Amino acid sequence: IISLGIEGTAEKTGVGIVDSQGNILSSVGKQLIPPAGGIHPREASEHHAYWIPVLVKEALEKAKIGLKDLDLVAFSQGPGLGPALRTTATAARALSLSLEIPIVGVNHCLGHVEIGRLTTGAEDPVSLYVSGGNTQVIAFAEGRYRVFGETLDIALGNCLDQFSREVGLGHPGGPKVEKLSRESSNYIQLPYTVKGMDLSFSGLLTAALRKREKGASLEDLSYSLQETAFGMLVEVTERALAHTQKKEVMLCGGVAVNERLRDMVSQMSKEHYADFFIPPGEYCGDNGAMIAWMGQLVYEDRGGQKLKDTKVIQRYRTDQVDVPWMESSKK
Ligand code: ATP
Ligand code: FE2
Repeated sequence: IISLGIEGTAEKTGVGIVDSQGNILSSVGKQLIPPAGGIHPREASEHHAYWIPVLVKEALEKAKIGLKDLDLVAFSQGPGLGPALRTTATAARALSLSLEIPIVGVNHCLGHVEIGRLTTGAEDPVSLYVSGGNTQVIAFAEGRYRVFGETLDIALGNCLDQFSREVGLGHPGGPKVEKLSRESSNYIQLPYTVKGMDLSFSGLLTAALRKREKGASLEDLSYSLQETAFGMLVEVTERALAHTQKKEVMLCGGVAVNERLRDMVSQMSKEHYADFFIPPGEYCGDNGAMIAWMGQLVYEDRGGQKLKDTKVIQRYRTDQVDVPWMESSKK
């Protein structure tokens, strides 16, 4: 069967088409670039409302199929920004009703992990999912994906984005910080905050901004921000790996394109004799294909949803979803 997935948890609109064997027939997207300041939920939803129909058409053309060839529509049900999620869900319901095909709402975070497994061949990894809105260390245990560690406040990508905006480098901050960090190897002390298995980035952000006010260079601060934040992530991922005794590590989410982070996580994996995986760039960040693929997995397990069950779930937790396909793939 052929599934169309719509992603719209935050500022990126994505539409992908995937068949039940896991062939990605197309995946197209459009990013909202906020003029100034952060993302406004209403602007994100207007962006989705405008782009979803355009991208659906484009995805079908790229896949060389028509609307009538679709058997299933999937959408990101959460976690995310309320207005953005509601627009995405509305589009998915409209497609489901007009085409008379089943609908499934899926968990966005699991989408990242599953598209990662699909595109890299990783079987049962400890996943480090780092993006603008999420920072989680995820691994499969007892029927579900469990969160072994996560941020207690802001996501790492958000920390980099806010730093970049405040010092006048613009949005998104991750790539800007990465570029500048290459110009320095002078470490400025910044707060390293790991609490148990959880992480905190807001103190790090504040401290970096304060040092900037006192005259520290952007190169030194970018370098130091990365070293500190990535060190924290590696520590928690390493402990999850040791605890679960898994043999694979996967890095995903928009921040996963960062070369320094890749090196650090790869090095740690090597020290533990674990294989290291990163999905291709277009499937690291938010994309429609991951939602279409999650749709296939969920639909095969429990069929379509009733419309009343397609309400968005703003705080949809990673460990709220049964993942029977992981159990069966291990047998
Ligand atoms: P989510 O809904 O999963 O939270 P998102 O809306 O943040 O996702 P993504 O595409 O997954 O979207 O991630 C975007 C984030 O990735 C931004 O915070 C951006 O700064 C960060 N990023 C992009 N490139 C780099 C890079 N080279 N280094 C570090 N961070 C990066
Ligand atoms: Fe995401």
